[in-house]
Amino acid sequence: MSPQIFVVTGAARGIGYALVQALAERPDTVVYAGVRSFPVDTNSELGQLAAKYPDAVIPIKITSADEADNQAAAALIKERYSQVDCVIACAGVASALEGQTVRRVTPADILDDVKINSTGPVTIFQALAELLLASHAAGGQPKFVAVSSLAARIVDPVPIEATAYGASKAALNYIMAKMNLEMAEIVAFPIHPGFVLSDMSKQAQNIPLDGAISPKESATGMLNVIEKATKESHGGKFWDYAGTQLQY
Ligand SMILES: NC(=O)c1ccc[n+]([C@@H]2O[C@H](COP(=O)([O-])OP(=O)(O)OC[C@H]3O[C@@H](n4cnc5c(N)ncnc54)[C@H](OP(=O)(O)O)[C@@H]3O)[C@@H](O)[C@H]2O)c1
Repeated sequence: MSPQIFVVTGAARGIGYALVQALAERPDTVVYAGVRSFPVDTNSELGQLAAKYPDAVIPIKITSADEADNQAAAALIKERYSQVDCVIACAGVASALEGQTVRRVTPADILDDVKINSTGPVTIFQALAELLLASHAAGGQPKFVAVSSLAARIVDPVPIEATAYGASKAALNYIMAKMNLEMAEIVAFPIHPGFVLSDMSKQAQNIPLDGAISPKESATGMLNVIEKATKESHGGKFWDYAGTQLQY
């Protein structure tokens, strides 16, 4: 049986790393762990995981929104595998989670967040589209999932001040709904990972972390949702890690 090939971006830490860790334990699975700092430090968590599962966890350089870098990653994967079955675009940034009202946000902050959070997933999708389509041609059901955020919600917005971040994830949600519409062969959707204890959530001074879940719980939940997802049931819709459909 040929393995299921996953590509996860933002795999060095936080939720992306937890996704790779969960996938590493699955049989017949290979996961390309996308990082921007390459080669991976052998003493880092990802370095150690790759050493433990040398056939299943393959670190690869994927810098968000860098076209040359993303194309090079796709070429490297293609040398070894003729298809990719699932991409989880998880890399993301938040220029600020607090103090960034519409009145105060800078155009530079909006552009920075859009570059990584909206353009990043597009760039990796464009680089890997051919390999995702090859999965479909071989009888598979390829998936492209982008890690979004509840902060993207437009109807009934979440009352946080992260204007640039929310706008960048709202743009991402539009792109994912559009991708699902355009690509009949691919199940595409955005997913909110939950409120997760990570470097990103810790950057907020005044948002209590009491209710935050672990990256592991988030990753396990998202992988369950992704596994169940079909074009009809999940494509183009906004989900959370627990399998609840969210309003855009
Ligand atoms: N934590 C939450 O509560 C929460 C809630 C909703 C949505 N999210 C989303 O979940 C995703 C993961 O967030 P997290 O909480 O795990 O955050 P995190 O711990 O801050 O991790 C962010 C990851 O993105 C990578 N990254 C940032 N800029 C990059 C770039 N230019 N190129 C490649 N990789 C880049 C980082 O790589 P380096 O290590 O190289 O910096 C890191 O691996 C993000 O998309 C975030 O928006 C998180």
